[in-house]
Amino acid sequence: MLNELFHYYTSPCPKIYRRLGYLSGLIAIQARYKRVAEQWRPHLENSRKLILQAASEVSQRNKVVVLGSGLLIDVPLQELAKQFDSVILIDIVHLIRVRSFCRKLDNIVMLEHDITGLAEAVLSYRLGMALPCPSAKLPDIAQDADLIISCNLLSQLAITPSQYLQKHFIIDAEQLANWQQEIIASHLSLLADQSGRRVLLCDACHNYLDKEGRLLRREEMLHGINLGEAEQQWSWLIAPLGELDGQYQLQSAVFGFSDWFLPNKNVIGRRFGSLPIVP
Ligand SMILES: C[S@@+](CC[C@H](N)C(=O)[O-])C[C@H]1O[C@@H](n2cnc3c(N)ncnc32)[C@H](O)[C@@H]1O
Repeated sequence: MLNELFHYYTSPCPKIYRRLGYLSGLIAIQARYKRVAEQWRPHLENSRKLILQAASEVSQRNKVVVLGSGLLIDVPLQELAKQFDSVILIDIVHLIRVRSFCRKLDNIVMLEHDITGLAEAVLSYRLGMALPCPSAKLPDIAQDADLIISCNLLSQLAITPSQYLQKHFIIDAEQLANWQQEIIASHLSLLADQSGRRVLLCDACHNYLDKEGRLLRREEMLHGINLGEAEQQWSWLIAPLGELDGQYQLQSAVFGFSDWFLPNKNVIGRRFGSLPIVP
């Protein structure tokens, strides 16, 4: 608890991101990671391995960009810093511990940036208004990367703004579901627009399992967007028994693509028509 308070009060973070719950959300992830590091280990290793595989296959290594760098637990930072001239870490929040660690490496740039472009509009939302349009864009310094990694944040992008809106307003369920899909689609569109090699790591669904590991309920995390078959897939035990509840455990199905491209319209799903289609 003391560690969480320390991070809450010492991590520089703009007020709007604090109000939306991004800082406390990341501190909660850090606290859970400390409790269940052993159960998370295979997922983190798989993520780092996939990133290093992609890094070993690019021909130029001027710049690598990590979207959703967070706690840097699934990012092989030291290796990337050795292999690339510059490493750009983008997250809406960088905790104080991560900042101190990165200061030891001289080719790292950390940017606090809202990848959805939604934060301000969500805070000024009032009942009766249309839900704000996501306008995903990258800061100039992150353009033209040789490698860009969307690092286990895709499903997260819709969660915090939705929770904030649901806490303060009653939002129609279908309207909310469409909006969540738009947020995810907008991120994929941004990624598809990048000229460098793209790595995509993301949660595809969350499985709630009973004590014996039997499936109780499945939650689809990409809101109807079908990414097609992942190059690699694995399970990540996000919350073992007792972490969220004594009766169930939460396991994620993770999709990993070391060289992601936007598949055709039919593969990607129903409301994906507005995205650029790579032939
Ligand atoms: C599950 S964590 C990813 C873990 C991270 N790759 C690591 O190694 O610790 C999701 C990350 O997405 C970030 N995030 C969520 N919404 C964001 C947004 N709108 N813009 C930028 N980052 C965001 C969170 O702050 C968090 O660090």
